[in-house]
Amino acid sequence: MPDNSRFTVTVDAPGKIILFGEHAVVYGRPAIAVPVIQVRASATIESRADDAVVIDAPDIARMSTLRDAPADDPLATIIRLTCARLGVPPEKFTVRIRSTIPVASGLGSGAAVSVAVARALGKYIASVTLAPHASVGMPNADISDLAYEVEKLHHGTPSGIDNTVIAFEQPVYFVRGKPIESFRVAKPFTLAIADTGIAAPTKIAVGDVRSQWEADRELFEKLFDNVGTLAHNARVLIEQGAIEGLGGLMTANQILLATMGVSSLEIQRLVDAALGAGALGAKLSGGGRGGNMIALVTEVTQDAIVRALLKAGAKRVIVTMVGGRQ
Ligand code: MEV
Repeated sequence: MPDNSRFTVTVDAPGKIILFGEHAVVYGRPAIAVPVIQVRASATIESRADDAVVIDAPDIARMSTLRDAPADDPLATIIRLTCARLGVPPEKFTVRIRSTIPVASGLGSGAAVSVAVARALGKYIASVTLAPHASVGMPNADISDLAYEVEKLHHGTPSGIDNTVIAFEQPVYFVRGKPIESFRVAKPFTLAIADTGIAAPTKIAVGDVRSQWEADRELFEKLFDNVGTLAHNARVLIEQGAIEGLGGLMTANQILLATMGVSSLEIQRLVDAALGAGALGAKLSGGGRGGNMIALVTEVTQDAIVRALLKAGAKRVIVTMVGGRQ
């Protein structure tokens, strides 16, 4: 790559929540996910005078060179893969990562970091090599593909929903292996996202569901089918603006997730608190076992539900609007 002293590019990527369909989506059923812009990961690429690639992630107190990073390190992997995709050797830059997305919480922190790094490197390399479309960088689909490779390191059999919704930064109706489908949110709706404060790696929950599926395929295929039907019906309601009906589907999805064994006492306590304070529906979001849950609120119920969630032990609550100005 040509030397280009003191050149800097910064890019960020949002978090995400899954509204319907986590876990079943790994087995080919549809799921719905939306970006959450209130939490973000950012990647800055800064040119260096020496040949090294330095990874600087102050939030996790990490500073290392690419050369010293283990082969399966997620940050090193996204840098290596992106440079390979762009046909340039990784050299002469620092990658600095900051993130406000809590890790292992169902908000897509790993995928957001990968997307931010891939997009930032794409722009950086396009700019320093004066490639055509320099200001554009890589297409979202390429960035999503690269982040998917890293998702495999985070948890063996990812569906690809996290990297897709984060790379495209729009609500998606996602079916594994199929082209991305966006859909119309006819009427905006509001969610409270509450953190149990318990870090729960997706890999473990996904692995446990797999073991149970292997032990009783008939039961789990039925559970996944039911979840898939909820996701499909939810899409129809969202496209019609019939938001009142969504809550019941969310709570039904939570019951199916609990039957799969991926809920927890802490999640259920927050779900019950939200429903008790008037939420139209509530469920865990993401891998489960800990992490975040979501509750469907209205302008009238929102404050009472946020208070109830905090009182029931939520470590923090984010309120986000889907389909409107956030
Ligand atoms: C993780 O955000 C969602 C899961 O369905 C796993 C996946 O889709 O890869 C639990």
